[in-house]
Amino acid sequence: MNDFHRAEMADQASADAMNTLVIVKSAIYTSGERDPREPPPRQDTTGRLHLMGHDPRLPKMPDKPSLFDFFNLRFGPAVHMLQSARLALKNGCDEKVILACLLHDCSAAGFIRADHGYWAAQLIAPYVDEEVAFAVRYHQVLRFYPDESFGYKYPESYIRLFGPDYKPEPYLDRAYLYCRNHKWYGTARLLTVNDLYSFDPDVHVELEEFTDIVGRNFRQPPEGLGFDDSPSAHMWRTINWPTRYL
Ligand SMILES: [Fe+2]
Ligand SMILES: [Fe+2]
Repeated sequence: MNDFHRAEMADQASADAMNTLVIVKSAIYTSGERDPREPPPRQDTTGRLHLMGHDPRLPKMPDKPSLFDFFNLRFGPAVHMLQSARLALKNGCDEKVILACLLHDCSAAGFIRADHGYWAAQLIAPYVDEEVAFAVRYHQVLRFYPDESFGYKYPESYIRLFGPDYKPEPYLDRAYLYCRNHKWYGTARLLTVNDLYSFDPDVHVELEEFTDIVGRNFRQPPEGLGFDDSPSAHMWRTINWPTRYL
């Protein structure tokens, strides 16, 4: 199936779904696009039920979804994370750093961009070593602060993205200082060193290259991510079924 057919089918599925179900958008989906002091736009819901499960516009996840199912069906083409994990592997980093690289932007890819390091760390915390979650949480912060001893410079791309005058907020300065003095600083810093912003379109990395590392370092729950009652199960469930009414 090519992109055109895929887009056509998605449009059709979307139209069918909207005709038979009431599918609402959470406040965060429209935040910034509408005045949050006003009530959300009303839909005509006559004769239709409110969606409470799988959204027919999305590819269906298995009943017991694994981490790789989320990569394949919810995290978009995760090229950046895969290339970053491959680089860490090539640089001889230990498995904690490689896993952190593989997971570090999963929130930005499939959930929420703002504070993505913090969200991603919470998502993975119940399933990985504490040090891995720490590195993922702080990578977002450390990106703003150079460390020549690791060969890490302030990213050129940030000058393009945020302008030459951008200064991190005070809460980022505080988080940086906390991380800088932490015993796991080196792990978080290595993640930023391998967090490549220049994608190489010719480098193809298969998820399966990391099957063993994930198998050894990510405690995949037998019930599937989202259904294991862990402290972040609800977040995985929301990524799986994001448009449920409740
Ligand atoms: Fe990131
Ligand atoms: Fe990244």
